[in-house]
Amino acid sequence: MKKILINGGKKLSGTIKIGGAKNSIVAILPATVLTNKKCKIYNVPNISDVKKLNEMLTFLGAKIEYKDEYIIVDNNSINNKEITKEFSSSIRASYYFMGALLSRYHRAEISYPGGCVIGSRPIDLHLKGFEKLGAKVEVKDNKYIITADELHGADIFLDIASVGATVNLIFASVLAKGITHIWNAAKEPEIVNVVTFLNSMGARIYGAGTDAITIEGVSELGNGTVEVIPDRIEAGTYLMMGILLGENLIIDGIIKEHLEAVITKLRETGATFEIEGSKITVSKALKLNAVNVKTSVYPGFPTDLGQPMSTVLTQCEGESLFEETIYEDRMRHIKHLNSMGANISLYNSTALIRGKTKLKGTTVVATDLRAGAAMLVAGMIASGTTEITNIEHILRGYENIVDKLTNVGAKIKLVDE
Ligand code: EPU
Repeated sequence: MKKILINGGKKLSGTIKIGGAKNSIVAILPATVLTNKKCKIYNVPNISDVKKLNEMLTFLGAKIEYKDEYIIVDNNSINNKEITKEFSSSIRASYYFMGALLSRYHRAEISYPGGCVIGSRPIDLHLKGFEKLGAKVEVKDNKYIITADELHGADIFLDIASVGATVNLIFASVLAKGITHIWNAAKEPEIVNVVTFLNSMGARIYGAGTDAITIEGVSELGNGTVEVIPDRIEAGTYLMMGILLGENLIIDGIIKEHLEAVITKLRETGATFEIEGSKITVSKALKLNAVNVKTSVYPGFPTDLGQPMSTVLTQCEGESLFEETIYEDRMRHIKHLNSMGANISLYNSTALIRGKTKLKGTTVVATDLRAGAAMLVAGMIASGTTEITNIEHILRGYENIVDKLTNVGAKIKLVDE
């Protein structure tokens, strides 16, 4: 069993380089299935979700070549096969193979997707959208069988601005006959990144980054090239560590516009940092004040940074309210923060956090990926040793985390017993 051990309280200085965004690459890799020509992808993060998607692509027959700065995915000789439970249950983004395989082969057979346990996470909007585009969806033996004689353009309104549904419906419509409109589309930067990639292959997609996306179906796609955008969630996590422990800590490789809500909220606590181009320089704040944080869809405060932010709020003077609005079960980390000495009361998806509290190292669990991030931030500031278990979740989304933090002065190690 892998664990992370942290001896907290160490100053952080030097530079942390931000990797490619998890939630971009997990859509970009399945998107390669849409073409039989080669795709070149720069800035691929070294995270276990990528390893799993590469295994899925290889299972389908893809050839993946790693170069220094990019990878080449060649899907010229792939076959449409069932994506079994063994693959799909290990990663949420396996659902992107639904849209991609349906689009290219008019058939996708795939077991239920896995991922972090943070709520019920239905995919009804993906399935309803596929049906609108002319597909038939059957559920049999815990798997989805999605077929279509022909896919055609449609008008699709999403009840919720879902990232996954927006991307999957773009995949399903990109080779369909006619024009598709997706209304109330999600606006996350990762969607723009994926669409840039698809357009580089010859797709005709307009409006990504707004809530109205138009897709003009094309008959085939060619070679694609893309650079994965920096991971705004990884950057935000290190920025939070910086305001608690930094000594001119530099977070390098950000896109400021993607972090506006986080930057604004952290500044509201009294934290100060300088941003120049793609770099943030941050030092420990002398005093942090309580603030209220409510997660929402982009450009709001990202749900994926809510949990680490709740650790920051334990260090703010006064009472903060932290409300999670996207997932109904993303508060499992609170009990672990309390076990370290935090003073947090939980009312469904709202936490009342009373600060400032001293945190003490103990054994805690990374109940999901971002809960793991919350525990990492807590362990970094706690006295004594913090032992984090279930760290497979953390490795899914934070590349080389132990090395990156060690390089800036943290006392952190990964043990495999
Ligand atoms: N929803 C539905 N029906 C659907 C789709 C979504 O009810 O058909 C609900 C979900 O249950 C959830 C909300 O809508 O309550 C938002 O879900 P969304 O589809 O936007 O999320 P997702 O595509 O499953 C992606 C990221 C998440 C990130 C969210 C929001 C991937 C693989 N996952 O999830 O990332 O939290 O968008 O930004 O891209 C993470 O990185 O830790 C993570 C969970």
